[in-house]
This record gives sequence, structure tokens and C-alpha cells, in this order.
Amino acid sequence: MKLKTKILTALGIGCYWAMMMNFFSAQAKETDTAPYMDPSESVEARVTDLLSRMTLDEKIGQMVQADLCCVSNRADIAKYGFGSMLSGGDSKPTGPNTPENWLQTVNDLKSWALKTRLKIPLIYGIDAVHGHNDVVGTTLFPHHIGMGATHDPALAEEAERITASEVAGTGIRWVFAPCIAVVQDERWGRTYESYGQDPALVSEMAAASVKGFQGDELSPHSVLACAKHFIGDGGTQNGIDQGNAVCDEATLRRLYLPPYEAAIRAGVGSIMVSYSSWNGLKMHANKYLLTDVLKGELGFKGFLVSDWAAIDEISPDYKYDVETSINAGLDMIMIPYGPGHPNNYVEFINDLKDLVAERKVSPARIDDAVSRILRIKFQMGLFENDGTDPSLTAQIGSTEHRQIARECVRESLVLLKNKRHALPLAKDLKHITVVGEAANDLGVQCGGWTVSWQGSGQVTRGTTILQAVRDIVSPQTQVRFSPDGRNLAGADAVIAVVGEPPYAEGLGDRTNLDLSAGDSALIARAKASGAPVITILLSGRPLILGRALGSSDAFIAAWLPGTEGEGIADVLFGDAKPTGKLPREWPKNDRQFAANAMHGRPLFRDGYGLTY
Ligand code: GLC
Repeated sequence: MKLKTKILTALGIGCYWAMMMNFFSAQAKETDTAPYMDPSESVEARVTDLLSRMTLDEKIGQMVQADLCCVSNRADIAKYGFGSMLSGGDSKPTGPNTPENWLQTVNDLKSWALKTRLKIPLIYGIDAVHGHNDVVGTTLFPHHIGMGATHDPALAEEAERITASEVAGTGIRWVFAPCIAVVQDERWGRTYESYGQDPALVSEMAAASVKGFQGDELSPHSVLACAKHFIGDGGTQNGIDQGNAVCDEATLRRLYLPPYEAAIRAGVGSIMVSYSSWNGLKMHANKYLLTDVLKGELGFKGFLVSDWAAIDEISPDYKYDVETSINAGLDMIMIPYGPGHPNNYVEFINDLKDLVAERKVSPARIDDAVSRILRIKFQMGLFENDGTDPSLTAQIGSTEHRQIARECVRESLVLLKNKRHALPLAKDLKHITVVGEAANDLGVQCGGWTVSWQGSGQVTRGTTILQAVRDIVSPQTQVRFSPDGRNLAGADAVIAVVGEPPYAEGLGDRTNLDLSAGDSALIARAKASGAPVITILLSGRPLILGRALGSSDAFIAAWLPGTEGEGIADVLFGDAKPTGKLPREWPKNDRQFAANAMHGRPLFRDGYGLTY
């Protein structure tokens, strides 16, 4: 090429880049000085200004929540302008499961969102359903059924405040909690995620939980709560997960609506829609309940998020699913799949753009959805400073946090039997034998949603019941551990710890809730020893106890207490009195499931609990 041509080419390229740099820097100046970037402007003014600047693509991007598991190219966050991302049950950052690695990962994801033209911040969501349970080393509280047994909304609020602090310490500002299901049939695998069967109790705890996460109102100090799963998730036939709740509207309103009214009064900023159906119609397709009732009649001003790929279940036609769910009132769609998988986030974006072009989804519906999402982001101060206070990170799993969780454990225990004052035990007994594998298994103690979706094993830091007993007794007391319940000679007391292996969601659905044969045999062996038998049941729901109750001198329902096993030892040895009350009735047999009073008196009524 001649020298002259080379020079002209170089000049041309230089001019192009100079022009582009001017364009982008001018654009940057424009957005940086735009009203929506000015925190002195009202939230509504900022929403209006930003919405007016957004293209349809940018608006639809805000309605997408992609899962960390399936965003293989993080540039997609900037390319499509995702409004949110999440970690589903088993979706973890690569590398060590530490708060620091979570924080680094979430910060990187957020940085991609700020590369977009309008720099709309990403909000990251996670299931923190009994503490920041996906992360190793965090403080894990009793699952909701245990918190329901405390009947202590103030304590529940404090627990969620601590959870919010630990979640925020990893850069995350949205939790898919509280679950405010009013569970009717304990065969449902998610019974333990519910505070109980009484709408009034669930409503009280729902409001307290929302306040704990968000504070009195959404602010830069809030973690966004998400009341779930709207509506009737706990009322499906036979407790089948994602099943069909069959009832008239009056019953639906009496049993399942009050907790949402309470959560909305408490200012909840998001609500997750249920996989389940009401009278055969998928909730994700129910415009009457999502829009007319929830947003209209109840005046919900936050945004509705779908459950994990839940819209896919409306029909075999994904584009129809998109149209139906958005028109029903969904504002953000949890789309856990990326390119290469059907029903992925690119397909969703293209389908929704086509639906708007075809006038099957109105621009007004898109603007309503996006306005709801932006309003929350402005109220939470995400545009100003979404950085993380390192002191929050440092406090994750702290002694102070664990002390509160220990108090939750103490108050969650329900004493069902205490023959001849077998409890409290003396701390200076000569020989105590602890039996049952569950006594030394933090996985059973914590239940599902613990580091992994289904939970299991020694996966995090905490204190087992066995260790807690060893820590509390006198130095002279010999504590033996006999997992199979043999060699009990000489025991002054036998503590039998039995219960359910961990599970989550539909994998926990059961048709039979009998205490396992192994656990029943273990308790029988303990009784045969002749020593007083103190039985502790670790379960996500009432079980059919059979002879186990009669074979025990004392019997405690401990639910799924989380990491702080000391709370159980505190009550066993009298440092605290048992105050828990059943959050749901306890069936005597399998004909009494689903609070089925038609088949005689339950073994224990809702609200039952002894003390000393
Ligand atoms: C799950 C659950 C929901 C959870 C979501 C994200 O399927 O139904 O409670 O928040 O997916 O993990």
C-alpha cells in the first residue's frame, strides 16, 4: 500500500475511534447526569425518567432473572441487560464455598450489569430460608416450622435481621423468603418451610420476617424479602408438591390470603408465584389472583417473580407460556436455562419482543412490570452504592449471631411428654448414653436447604446434639455415644435422637409418615435398658409415633433446629425451660393427615406444649 494511503487510512481509523469515544463519553456524561441518576429526585421521577430512556430490549432485559448455573458467558449480563440473577438450590460459584468467594463472584456479576448503556444495577437473589444457608460457615436457624413453634414474632424478626446481615455480607440483596405457606397436609415435603397451619400465626410471623429482612421500609440497608409462594402452595390435595389446591374462593381467602395481606402491610417488595394450581389453573396463568386480587384489591406495589422455570409448565408452547404469564401479571421471570437448552433466556427475550410486536403483550404491561422492578431498585439505593460493608462479611457466623440462633432453638422445642419429671436432667449424672446416628449428624439437624438443595452430611460449622450434651455436663459425667443403641448398661439416662433424613421440596413428599422402623427399634432398645429415656425427634413435620411415645419418659419435638445444637442441651439440662407450642396439630394415625378432624382427636392439638 502507498505511504499516502496508509496515512489516510490511519487518520480515518483515528477519526472513527475519536468519534466513538466522544459518543460514548457523551453518552456516559448523559446518563451520569440524567435525573434517574440523581438521588435527590423522587423515586417516581427517577422511574419515569429511566423508563423513558429505555429501549424495549432494555426493558425486557430487566424482566429476566438468570441463574448463575447457566450463564456460561457473563458478557450476556451486559448484552441483554439482565435485571437479576440468582443462585438456585445447587447453583454455587466456582471455587471454595466461602463468604469471600461468594462476595467476589456476586461483585463480578454486578460489574457486568454496570457495563450497559444505562448502568441499571443487577439485584442478586438467593434462598436464605433458615439463615444464609447456601454458604458454609453461616448461622443456620431453625426452619420455619420450629420458628412457628416459638410463637415469638420478635425473635423471628431478629433472626431474619441477622440473616439479612449475613446475606448482605456476601453482596446479595434479595432473599426468596419468607415462605408463608399455610400448610394443611403434613405429607407435603415443604411442611417445614411453613410457620404452621393457622393463618393468624403465619400472618404474624410473615410480617415479622419481612421487617427483619427489609426494616420498616425499603432502604439502602434493606435486603429485599420475597413472600412465597402465592397462593395456596400449602393447600394442595394430599400435600402433593406443585399440585392442585381444590377449594372455593372463600376458603382460599380465609386460609391462604391473610399472610400475604400481612406481608404487604409490612412492605414486602417482592412476591414469588406458586408452581401449584388452584382448581386446575396454574397460578402462573391466573390473572384474576395475580393482577385483580394481589395488585388491585390488595394494592401490592412491588413486583411478582416466577418460580424456577415455572412458566414452562403452563403449556408445551413456550411462547404461549411467556404471553400467558406476563399478561397474568408476572413482572420478572426466573429463567434458569441458557443457550443450548430449550426455554432459555435468549428465547424468552425474543419471544417477548415478538409478542409485543404482535400486540399480544401490550407496551403498558411491559412498562408496568419494569416500573415495579426499577422502583424497588431505587428504593434500595442500588443505583447509589451497592457495595458491601466488610464488617458484615466479618460478622458471618459470629458468636453473637449464633447466640440468637441458640435462643431460637431453645424457644422452638416442644415438650410433648415428661413422665415423672424425667426432665430436666441433672448435669452431674454419672453416666449418660446418647443413642442414634442423628445425635452426631449436623445434616439431619439442619435439614434441607443446607449448603446443598437437599441438605446432608457434615457440610457446615455448628454443634451437634451429642457435642452439646458433652459440653454442658459436669466434668465427672461420662457421656457415651452408641449410634445403634446397644451397650446401654449402667446408663443413668438415655438420650435417643431420631428423625428424618434431609430433603427439600417434592423429594420430601410422603404418603406414609410413620417414624422409621429403625428409630422405633432404637427407642425400644433404650427403654429395655431400664434407664429414663429422653427422646428428641428431628423432623420437618409431625410423624406418626406409634409406640415410641409410650416407650419414652420424655419426648421433645425439636423440628430442624439448625447449627446451634446447644439450644437443645440448654433445655434438656434445665438452663432454659421448654416454651414451644405446636404450630400444627399432631396426627395420631394416617387418617388424620391434613388437619382432618373428621377422624377423631389428634394425638396433640395445635398449640400444645408442656413446660417445667
Ligand atoms: C425452587 C422453589 C423456590 C425457590 C426457587 C429458587 O424451585 O420452589 O422456593 O425460591 O426454586 O431456588
